[in-house]
Amino acid sequence: METQLKLNVAGLDFVPYIPYSQIARRVEELGTELNHDYEGLSPIFLPILNGSFMFAADLIKEICIPCQVSFVKIASYEGTQSSGKVSQLIGLQQDLEGRHIILVEDIVDTGLTMASLLKELENFRPASVKIATLFVKPESLKEEFEIHYRGFDIPNKFIVGYGLDYEGFGRNYRDVYCLSPD
Ligand code: IMP
Repeated sequence: METQLKLNVAGLDFVPYIPYSQIARRVEELGTELNHDYEGLSPIFLPILNGSFMFAADLIKEICIPCQVSFVKIASYEGTQSSGKVSQLIGLQQDLEGRHIILVEDIVDTGLTMASLLKELENFRPASVKIATLFVKPESLKEEFEIHYRGFDIPNKFIVGYGLDYEGFGRNYRDVYCLSPD
């Protein structure tokens, strides 16, 4: 699919931001790092749907050590605590006790979702949990946790494409687009 100079997604205009060629190079680098770091550990990748489906597919194609993959989803609801939203993992099939988990996310924005998931995963008594995310918005981060594998740090811009959506649309584009400044 050709890069579009201007893209209208659910009524908003977006412009090209990161081409697929650049994403592909970075994903390959992350794969190389993971192959090295997880040698002999048989990790399990937990890609978080929906946003991470393209990143996960490309990343996992780079993995050449034994591993498992289990797609999960987050059910999000308003909690009764002052912290607001509570996220819960659904769709988990495997026993995670003693396993080395790599959470695969499209983007970490405020970090609230990820912080909540990390807390929930502790209950499964894994051997380790690390995060692989394609994008991080460091200026938006409100929570503190280590992000071990990160594709790109980006400013606080809203982006779509390569799995990321606006109002459910825009996930299908290979390239990443950001909200047009005008
Ligand atoms: P957080 O809890 O604020 O870190 O939110 C993370 C989730 O918000 C991601 O998994 C995305 O679904 C969504 N999100 C945050 N920023 C963007 C963006 O720029 N484009 C599309 N979705 C985004």
